[in-house]
Amino acid sequence: MNLINLKNKKVFITGGTAGIGLSILESFYKLEAEIFTIGTNHENLKTIQSNFPKIKTSNFNLENHQKIEELVKEAKEKLGGLDIVINNAGITKDNLAIRMSDEEWNKVININLTAVFLVCKYSIKAMMKQDAGSIINISSIVGHTGNFGQANYSSAKAGIVAMSKSLAKEYAKKNIRVNCISPGFIDTKMTKNINEEFKKKLIENIPLGKLGTGNDIANCALFLASELSSYITGETIHVNGGMYMA
Ligand SMILES: NC(=O)c1ccc[n+]([C@@H]2O[C@H](COP(=O)([O-])OP(=O)(O)OC[C@H]3O[C@@H](n4cnc5c(N)ncnc54)[C@H](O)[C@@H]3O)[C@@H](O)[C@H]2O)c1
Repeated sequence: MNLINLKNKKVFITGGTAGIGLSILESFYKLEAEIFTIGTNHENLKTIQSNFPKIKTSNFNLENHQKIEELVKEAKEKLGGLDIVINNAGITKDNLAIRMSDEEWNKVININLTAVFLVCKYSIKAMMKQDAGSIINISSIVGHTGNFGQANYSSAKAGIVAMSKSLAKEYAKKNIRVNCISPGFIDTKMTKNINEEFKKKLIENIPLGKLGTGNDIANCALFLASELSSYITGETIHVNGGMYMA
């Protein structure tokens, strides 16, 4: 028997079509969880449908806040329940603060913070009757350290951490746990555009001497989703090769 038992658990993952989300999706799939995921890239969604026919998908843009209640209902209906929610989808729109447009600020806050809150809100409502649930929100190292050009992104990611603690306090009595993972620099499309010289310097500052992989984050998500972490809530696990130690 697996130490981590997620067989038939109903899992909703946002942005499970690429990068870290895809690694999370594959790890949960291997453990026979039942999965519903959303994304905005049509081609990526089609690939998921052909590679994992059992996985349910929907093309949904998290900027569409008014439809998030319906989205969570759809997740619950398609899965036949809702045990685990992973708020993974996120974007960057980097710029120095004095040049940052309202559009760059609002888009990042809308997708990376407000949509995460709304998915949590409606998922908690869906989980309350069953007195169980695990929500995992993907924050970022820069939500703790700040970063050049990322006033919008770091604010959203810091907001996720504080919001998760508040939700953890509010719904602990209902046995709904809310935790965060704060990845360091992970090798995905989001970090592909970092220039090589900067990447070299970055790696010199990572004690474990390399960028992380999607699997490094997925392994942590498996733990936080499972009963192995049943006494952990309101916590943030840093997965960054030692780059930042809280
Ligand atoms: N890559 C890193 O180094 C790193 C570091 C720290 C935190 N993170 C966080 O991890 C998460 C995943 O990052 P990634 O590197 O895998 O990104 P990625 O760009 O490779 O994938 C992002 C996923 O989110 C989905 N998505 C984006 N905008 C969306 C929207 N408006 N509506 C619905 N879905 C949307 C995409 O379809 C895709 O599936 C993000 O929240 C990101 O902020 C990444």
